[in-house]
Amino acid sequence: MTLSNSTVPSSTPTSESISNSAQQALLTASHLTKTVQVGEQSLSIIKDVSIHVDAGEFVVIMGKSGSGKSTLLGLLAALDYPDSGSVELAGQTLSSLDEDALAVIRQRDMGFVFQSFHLLPTLTVAENIAFPLDIARRPNKARVNELIEAVDLGHRRNSLPNQLSGGEQQRTAVARSLVSQPKIVFADEPTGNLDEQNADQVMNLLLDLRQQTGSALVVVTHDPALADMADRVITMHDGMIDGSTLNG
Ligand SMILES: Nc1ncnc2c1ncn2[C@@H]1O[C@H](COP(=O)(O)OP(=O)(O)OP(=O)(O)O)[C@@H](O)[C@H]1O
Ligand SMILES: [Mg+2]
Repeated sequence: MTLSNSTVPSSTPTSESISNSAQQALLTASHLTKTVQVGEQSLSIIKDVSIHVDAGEFVVIMGKSGSGKSTLLGLLAALDYPDSGSVELAGQTLSSLDEDALAVIRQRDMGFVFQSFHLLPTLTVAENIAFPLDIARRPNKARVNELIEAVDLGHRRNSLPNQLSGGEQQRTAVARSLVSQPKIVFADEPTGNLDEQNADQVMNLLLDLRQQTGSALVVVTHDPALADMADRVITMHDGMIDGSTLNG
């Protein structure tokens, strides 16, 4: 993989404008493809996907298991590199950045609620939530406390992750994803393992905090109730987008 060291944003997108609101887009992904090697075979799992997310927009991605949702989310969040195509966040082409520059953008502009982004087991709830601010050297106790209260974990602030229920862990992860007031939060089935009450709580939290911070949300889910709350629902099938519906 060749990545330039430059942090200068590239100015010319390689593709045509992909939507009529492209001038407003916070995130623009153009013609993404991804192929993986399975034994002898190379398998195309993302096939020419273009997508945009406006500032503050709540986009849900749905589709059958194996349709490519998590892979796409990883590409959008620049956790994984596409084979071709580009992702721009606020005008900056992420694939042209090196790992250090990307790390800064992840810390400053992005929040994650991914199952693979576990809570750090040796840190308490409060320390986990504070973590993105601490590594960015922008500690902010008041903000951390505000979020601990918002996720209703004041009584658990000094607990370690393995002392928490699944819902409490998920709420901690949501608080952590939003603590630095990111421009965009990516969540992969954030309510997936939760009972209905905890799922509602986690989702309402994301929506409330989005309202406060103006963060855009990109959420992969199988939950139709969540899709109803979104501004836009994108459906994936076999590595491609096969539908996009505006709500409301
Ligand atoms: N590293 C990999 N190697 C081989 N195949 C992979 C790899 N990553 C993903 N895949 C395959 O790509 C397809 C898309 O996977 P992905 O995880 O994006 O699906 P998904 O839509 O998120 O599914 P789910 O709803 O089950 O989470 C699947 O068929 C999966 O098996
Ligand atoms: Mg998935």
